[in-house]
Amino acid sequence: MIIDYKDVNDLNRYKIMSDTVVPRPIAWIVTEDEGVINAAPFSYFVPLSSNPAVVVVSIGQKEKDVPKDSLHNILKHKKATICFVNKDNAEQVKLSATMLDKSESEIEKYEIEVQRPLEDFPPMISSTQTALFCEFYSQVDIPGKTTPIILEVKKQYIEDGRLDERSHVHVDNVGRSGAFFKAMVDL
Ligand SMILES: Cc1cc2nc3c(=O)[nH]c(=O)nc-3n(C[C@H](O)[C@H](O)[C@H](O)COP(=O)(O)O)c2cc1C
Repeated sequence: MIIDYKDVNDLNRYKIMSDTVVPRPIAWIVTEDEGVINAAPFSYFVPLSSNPAVVVVSIGQKEKDVPKDSLHNILKHKKATICFVNKDNAEQVKLSATMLDKSESEIEKYEIEVQRPLEDFPPMISSTQTALFCEFYSQVDIPGKTTPIILEVKKQYIEDGRLDERSHVHVDNVGRSGAFFKAMVDL
């Protein structure tokens, strides 16, 4: 069958696209505003280029004309720390997707351990095997409720033992496949 996207409503189009473009990496994004550390997962996320080193993440609204906290914080402070999901922190990731009031921190509420290796970036989640310390690069204007944000990777944390002598990184990231989290498997 051929599906004509103009005949599909928004919710079903979201389901069809996100069940089809799989697996997707999950950006577990940490931002800050007024002393509140915010963490939330985003799977409309992909690298665009390595030179410049830029990734794009599409973030929606909390309600009409009110951006999700992560988007608000990135646009205000121009910084984001992208952590990656593995099987040990997948449950915390799901919890951190809960829509909280802006003054509430997912990190505090769900007791997620963080550390701050770089003073001028938001902290990273301690259980991540690697993290990208990013600055706002640009915003892509598209119609609708979602804002694609391009972030430039300035620095990267890699857990000891995961970077080999040929600059290959070995991580056990978990991605999103439809409604599920899936680990990458070797073929
Ligand atoms: C695995 C996963 C992937 C998600 N991907 C996205 C996404 O790409 N864009 C988006 O706007 N929300 C996405 N969400 C929902 C947000 O995580 C959720 O709305 C969260 O409450 C936003 O938090 P914030 O207001 O603190 O930024 C995803 C949720 C999960 C569990």
